[in-house]
Amino acid sequence: MTSPAGRYAWEARADLVVVGGGVAGLTAARTASLRGLDVLTVSKGGPTDTSTQYAQGGIAVVGDVDTDSVESHVVDTCEAGVGLCDEAAVYSIVESGRDAVAALAALGAVFDRGRDGEVSRTREGGHSTRRIIHAGGDATGAEVQRALNAAGLPVLFGAAAVQVVTGPHGVCGLVVASAEGLGVIHTPAVLLATGGLGQLYACSTNPAGATADGIALALTAGAAVADLEFVQFHPTVLYTPGGVGRRPLISEAVRGEGAILVDTKGNSVTAGVHPLGDLAPRDVVSRAIAARLRELGADHVYLDARTLDGFETRFPNITASCLEAGIDPRTQLIPVAPAAHYSCGGVATDVHGRTGVPGLYAAGEVARTGLHGANRLASNSLLEGLVVGERAGAAAAERRGVHAEVVDVVRTPLPALPREVVQSIMTSHASVVRDGAGLDVARKALAEAEDCVAVGVSELEDAALTLTATALLEVASARAESRGCHTRVDYPNTDPNQRRSTQITLGADGVLGLPENLSTGVQ
Ligand code: SIN
Repeated sequence: MTSPAGRYAWEARADLVVVGGGVAGLTAARTASLRGLDVLTVSKGGPTDTSTQYAQGGIAVVGDVDTDSVESHVVDTCEAGVGLCDEAAVYSIVESGRDAVAALAALGAVFDRGRDGEVSRTREGGHSTRRIIHAGGDATGAEVQRALNAAGLPVLFGAAAVQVVTGPHGVCGLVVASAEGLGVIHTPAVLLATGGLGQLYACSTNPAGATADGIALALTAGAAVADLEFVQFHPTVLYTPGGVGRRPLISEAVRGEGAILVDTKGNSVTAGVHPLGDLAPRDVVSRAIAARLRELGADHVYLDARTLDGFETRFPNITASCLEAGIDPRTQLIPVAPAAHYSCGGVATDVHGRTGVPGLYAAGEVARTGLHGANRLASNSLLEGLVVGERAGAAAAERRGVHAEVVDVVRTPLPALPREVVQSIMTSHASVVRDGAGLDVARKALAEAEDCVAVGVSELEDAALTLTATALLEVASARAESRGCHTRVDYPNTDPNQRRSTQITLGADGVLGLPENLSTGVQ
């Protein structure tokens, strides 16, 4: 079948199209289906090619205990977010965590329990107490993904979103590239749940498909993107000489259970840096490691987990990754270095996933709800995916009855450089620490990209990475201070006058609008 004007190989209709098959996408799809919407989920990879699959540590959620409270979780989250969290959004999401986890458990997700039969809780950086539930030891994301996949929602795998189509009433369709060629889905609602942007960098904990697709789709649809300069670098990613691409994470929970960080001379990396020491918020630990690496001219530090009892039982996947790299974590130090891990910013949404474009929603890592601020608190991401995924799926019901018909599509040409080129530029100039001169070099290098109308998946990914890198560099250059995971060596201090979010949009002329500063909602 051809459509519209015979330029598309296939067409379909849905009340809601969800883009992405991780925790936020499948949770949203399930909720919307339960509300009677005709939902189609598209995913460019297979059932486990998601960032969710690789999440280790767990889900931060307050339990039924008198040693923790929603208020305490909110305080820890805002503390980690260094003044940029939207406190109302944080409260709203954290407060809904228990119900969201209960819904997931009802779907069949199994969490680890202690000898007392209670769900086990561990601690990670920035948390003032043990509140992180986990599954399979260090395979929480895989268990979440398994439970959601088992719900049997219809997903069109191997189908990449190409462009969100809008009309006078907001979203009216989505162009998709699948094995059958370029197709169009007529729909009044598109929900972006595409995950992160770790592939902007040479080393990342993210899978190969984490190419900022949702950021590019949102920008080209006219939605705003916020706080993009805050890319979280995980402090402890397995280091092997020359290793690039997706690198194995050594969960913060390893430090939560007692492992310590030492440099190549055997000295503590974080002593005197922060009262929480090795369990300080992630940005603090990553910066401390980066500083020590510069000081010693080293390319890694070590995690010493040799004193932990039953390491291989508590952390089976980490044990396997280390052994594969020739390191036995029970008897040897684990070489680690920071690597790109999580985008704290993203498509600007409310806590129901609504963007500024009617009918366009976003949830999970691709979205910026105000939960993370300038630095995400560990294990708040699966929490956000569950809570906001559920809410966004419910919110999409408000588009029921909106007429959606794609009559014509003007494809947006976007600048594109090969992924490796973008990675090399970003790794050299916009990594754990940055400065204005380096950011300028990067901006100039990216400006060399030529516009193209991408069709194939790798072209689409290159274009998404290039546009997102360009937007990120704009906002990183505009933020003349250090805050959270944005560290400028030329502006080392946090400036109270810059305690605000930064938004960026793409104009109809294809030019990125200058960053706009917004209040965070924090009084
Ligand atoms: C980890 O296990 O250290 C990662 C958890 C997270 O990124 O929240």
